Amino acid sequence: MFDINALDRIVKETLEAIERSKNQIYDIAENSRLELIRVSQELNEVKKEVSEIIRQVDKKALIEKRARARLMEVSKDFQRYTEKDIKDAYDQAYDLQVELIKMQEKEKLLRFRRDHLETSLRRLNATVDRAEKLVSQVGVVLNYLGGGLQDLGSKIGEVHQAQQMAMSIIKAQEEERKRVAREIHDGPAQSMANIVMRADYCQKLLDLHPDKVRGELVALQELVRSSLTDVRKIIFDLRPMVLDDLGLAPAIKRYLSDYNDQLGVQIEFLFIGPQKRLESSVEVALFRIIQEAVNNIRKHARAKSAIVKMEMLPEKINIYVKDDGTGFDLNKVMADGERDGYGLIGIRERVQLLKGEFNITTAPGRGTSIGISVPVDYN
Ligand SMILES: Nc1ncnc2c1ncn2[C@@H]1O[C@H](COP(=O)(O)OP(=O)(O)OP(=O)(O)O)[C@@H](O)[C@H]1O
Ligand SMILES: [Mg+2]
Repeated sequence: MFDINALDRIVKETLEAIERSKNQIYDIAENSRLELIRVSQELNEVKKEVSEIIRQVDKKALIEKRARARLMEVSKDFQRYTEKDIKDAYDQAYDLQVELIKMQEKEKLLRFRRDHLETSLRRLNATVDRAEKLVSQVGVVLNYLGGGLQDLGSKIGEVHQAQQMAMSIIKAQEEERKRVAREIHDGPAQSMANIVMRADYCQKLLDLHPDKVRGELVALQELVRSSLTDVRKIIFDLRPMVLDDLGLAPAIKRYLSDYNDQLGVQIEFLFIGPQKRLESSVEVALFRIIQEAVNNIRKHARAKSAIVKMEMLPEKINIYVKDDGTGFDLNKVMADGERDGYGLIGIRERVQLLKGEFNITTAPGRGTSIGISVPVDYN
């Protein structure tokens, strides 16, 4: 079967993965931006140094040029200048040349550094741009997906609920079938087998002791009559025809008076309001609910007295089923793992399908009271 939980998990994980990538891209953009600031600061410094060194190189080149001119002049005129003058002029020109070369070297390095920084800056700018665009794109995608997927999430929830409800309806139907099968097997089916046997016996008796046949036939008649009652009861439980013919309140009244005849406990029926017909499916559902609650009283409550109260109001119907019996631990009974019956769950689901409210008040030794309220639309 298609696993809704797995899909839900995948959707959540996908959203988380996208959110994580968004954060990662955001980090990359942030780091690049910081690097960009550092590089542009350094570039500014280097640019300043470059123009400073150019200025210094120009100045030095001028001085060096003059020193070379002086050296030429001094070395041409041996009469005016001594050997020391020439040597000094030479030394000076040489020193200046060395200094100039050093400074030119430095200028070259600085220019190279500047070009490199400019390239880095361009690259970083592009990275930041791209990352920012990506962050906003992922943001849009995430919002879009988030909205859509959340919607999907709630849809999945609804489908899930519907699926579970369908499952428990099927389960309840299966339980009901089992119950009917058991009732037919234990009641009418056994009686029939018995009847066949006794009819057989009557036949034999006819030859041997014709005088005893009458008595036997009376017993046989009694047996048939009681299985007929059983069959009628099973049919009534399956689909109370009186419900279709007369409506909810008379059907419940009939059901309870049959019950009271059979059982020790007297279940009182109180009806308030005008007797109006409801949609057939609603009547059946409410009848089943009361039937189950009364069955539970019979099976579990050991009550001295009980009451079924039905109140037809203009827009809703309230039903109370209350007994003074043993009561029970509600949390334990409704806990998923420990449940062994489907009656109360069935009531809850029927009420849910009717968009009504359902509550149970009970505790061990305190009796049980079931309250149901469903909105109705009278025909
Ligand atoms: N009126 C009541 N008084 C005392 N105990 C009750 C009453 N109604 C329900 N219970 C307790 O709650 C349990 C669950 O009831 P529920 O109708 O769901 O199942 P069940 O009657 O045991 O089985 P099923 O209805 O499927 O034949 C019962 O087994 C019983 O212990
Ligand atoms: Mg029950």
